[in-house]
Amino acid sequence: MTNEHTIPQTEYTGRIREILSARFPETQPKAFVHTYGCQGNVADSERIKGMLADMGYDFTDSREDADFVLFNTCAVREHAEDRVYGNVGALKPIKSEKRDMIIALCGCMMQQAHVAEKIRKSYPFVNLVFGTFAIDRFPELMYRVLRGGKRVFDLEERENVLPEGLPVRRDSDFKAWLPIMYGCNNFCTYCIVPYVRGRERSRKTEDVLAEAREIVASGAKEITLLGQNVNSYGKKSEDGVDFPQLLRLVNAIPGDFKIRFMTSHPKDCTKALLDAMSDCEKVARHLHLPFQSGSNRVLKAMNRGYTREKYLELIAYARQVMPDLSLTSDVIVGFPGETYEEFTETLSLIREVRFTSLFTFIYSPRKGTVAAALPDPVPYAEKSRWFSELLKTQEEIAAERCADMVGRTFEVLVENETKEGGGMLTGRTPGNVNIDFPGCPSLIGSYRQVRVVSAKNWMLTGALAE
Ligand code: SAH
Ligand code: SF4
Ligand code: F3S
Repeated sequence: MTNEHTIPQTEYTGRIREILSARFPETQPKAFVHTYGCQGNVADSERIKGMLADMGYDFTDSREDADFVLFNTCAVREHAEDRVYGNVGALKPIKSEKRDMIIALCGCMMQQAHVAEKIRKSYPFVNLVFGTFAIDRFPELMYRVLRGGKRVFDLEERENVLPEGLPVRRDSDFKAWLPIMYGCNNFCTYCIVPYVRGRERSRKTEDVLAEAREIVASGAKEITLLGQNVNSYGKKSEDGVDFPQLLRLVNAIPGDFKIRFMTSHPKDCTKALLDAMSDCEKVARHLHLPFQSGSNRVLKAMNRGYTREKYLELIAYARQVMPDLSLTSDVIVGFPGETYEEFTETLSLIREVRFTSLFTFIYSPRKGTVAAALPDPVPYAEKSRWFSELLKTQEEIAAERCADMVGRTFEVLVENETKEGGGMLTGRTPGNVNIDFPGCPSLIGSYRQVRVVSAKNWMLTGALAE
């Protein structure tokens, strides 16, 4: 270990400020950060942006204007990775015009050895590559890049890394992502996450609560607790607080805010959790509970650890204790060896549960996972036909669900003006359904009572009820 490794990261931040103010005496250097993938990645990027701000960077939405470009990448499906390669390639001509530009890649995709190798060989203009275990060392890595010389790669896997104490620059003033745990131990056979995010580890309850209090004090209106499997929060921790207890503790923080959480794994979703949700007035009546497949054979091959019957039992209990609960889920079509009959069990499950909305995916083989080595005889074109059938079924259900909401009034967090503008705002109901309604932009960031006026397919239009 050299001396440099013993220097605290904030020391590097200070040195970087000096280097940058010498290089940019008149202006502030600009950073462009783009995030792919899940909210876990979004939360990581908010911490990286916090560190960049401390280093003296300002932020820009234009990669051409940026002095520092970072892509925080996702590896969950091939499509996500292809987009990253395309967008990194597109930086090459920009950088050849602007030789001092620093290009950095981080996140889940980089944590795979074959990807890092490809970047090393085929993308020589990339200056810095770091994996998911290196976030807390970002200042040190940046310092090494700024000092010049070799390209910097940090892809080392570390046990029990919890990026505590980092500055956070949140994207929204009123919606906050709050990671409560990192990693995943479940090894669903299709999934790359446990390989690129490492073993499950929970933040200390006091750290989570301190951040939650900070968020509430800053005026935020919605906190989303994040983890790949929030239900296993605290399994190995010393303070013995589990997820239902954590939910109750966050709920007890005084203030005008709502709580959401994701993702729940059905195998660890307990009645205690559903009871806690039902008891906690700040917890939104929305449960995202991915089922992936309606076939027990496929669920077993996916290593999901529950059956269709167990899943339906949970849903029945959840609706018993929270009759107004909105349910959403994730589904995979075309897992290796899945037959059409098995796929129809997925269709029958969604008809039975009648989810508010679904995230639907065609299976994408991920190098190194168990499923990637299974025989996969159904052609992609056939899987696409099944996928369309799934979408059509869900669209009908969502349309019926939305039509049922007409005339009801919901407490809506006003989030933005609609893209089309014209005095229309957009927000979300407690059940996480988008609703557009006319109103003044000054309402953005507050809760308002909105009555549903009409539903077109699965789009709601409303009117302020006050
Ligand atoms: N931890 C969460 C899911 C994280 S990944 C959970 O267990 O629910 C988000 C979703 O991506 C998964 O729920 C799954 O539906 C989908 N997914 C993951 N790996 C995939 C793959 N190889 N092909 C297609 N979809 C995949
Ligand atoms: Fe992937 Fe399964 Fe872990 Fe979710 S629970 S991240 S799907 S391995
Ligand atoms: Fe993607 Fe990593 Fe999240 S693989 S889905 S960004 S944990």
